[in-house]
Amino acid sequence: MARRRIIAGNWKMNKTPSEAVALCAELKDLVKNDAVDVVYCVPAIDIVPVAEAVKGTNVHVGAENFYIEDKGAFTGEISAPMLKDAGVEFIIIGHSERRDIFGENDILINQKVKKAFASGLKPILCCGESLALRKAGVYQEWIKRQIVWDLSDVTADQVKELVIAYEPIWAIGTGETATADQAEEVCKMIRETIAELYDADTAEAVRIQYGGSMNAGNAAELLSKPDIDGGLIGGASLKPDFGQIVNA
Ligand code: PGA
Repeated sequence: MARRRIIAGNWKMNKTPSEAVALCAELKDLVKNDAVDVVYCVPAIDIVPVAEAVKGTNVHVGAENFYIEDKGAFTGEISAPMLKDAGVEFIIIGHSERRDIFGENDILINQKVKKAFASGLKPILCCGESLALRKAGVYQEWIKRQIVWDLSDVTADQVKELVIAYEPIWAIGTGETATADQAEEVCKMIRETIAELYDADTAEAVRIQYGGSMNAGNAAELLSKPDIDGGLIGGASLKPDFGQIVNA
């Protein structure tokens, strides 16, 4: 079964609403490709104008964060029903910046994955190791543990709709990309972990992205690997290069 490629931009805390609309216009023709799912994961305040700007195109809208309750006294937070109503389909969960800067742990990340599915949002679940863990040679165990915790009580049918992004922290925003072989090694291991936790069909269906300094120059090689089904792209998603990655 062929998995459909998914190329998602993670805009992080970049682009004001008017800049966001301008970027959508700049990328519109460059990201055309009916064989690929193209997603812009954008800051909360950009969601409404971006959803409007990409209407009628092949681009799907994603969010970068949300909270697990539907509404109430949670100052500063945004809920899954709010995202759905605004046209969001995908949600990044467990990004290393949320884990490291904002203290999100695997218990909350697991709650977010379950809430996203219950709300009809498709999670892009991020995992990945620090440089210290890679050097210590324990990165595979670390990532496996993240997957086990983050997918606790998540069903096989849900995992078939899940996107997992392998993002080695040492490669994020550093210009240092994992080699295609290093990325494939971990993406394959993630798929094997899903096969162990669920079954072969589920492992075959789950889409796994690589993320970390993916760019127009290295995308084709990374995406040629059998277990790499797409990319989660930070810096290069804010430039015309993103179109080259979509069409790599
Ligand atoms: P980068 O970010 O492409 O700028 O390395 C990737 C990410 O953090 O999702």
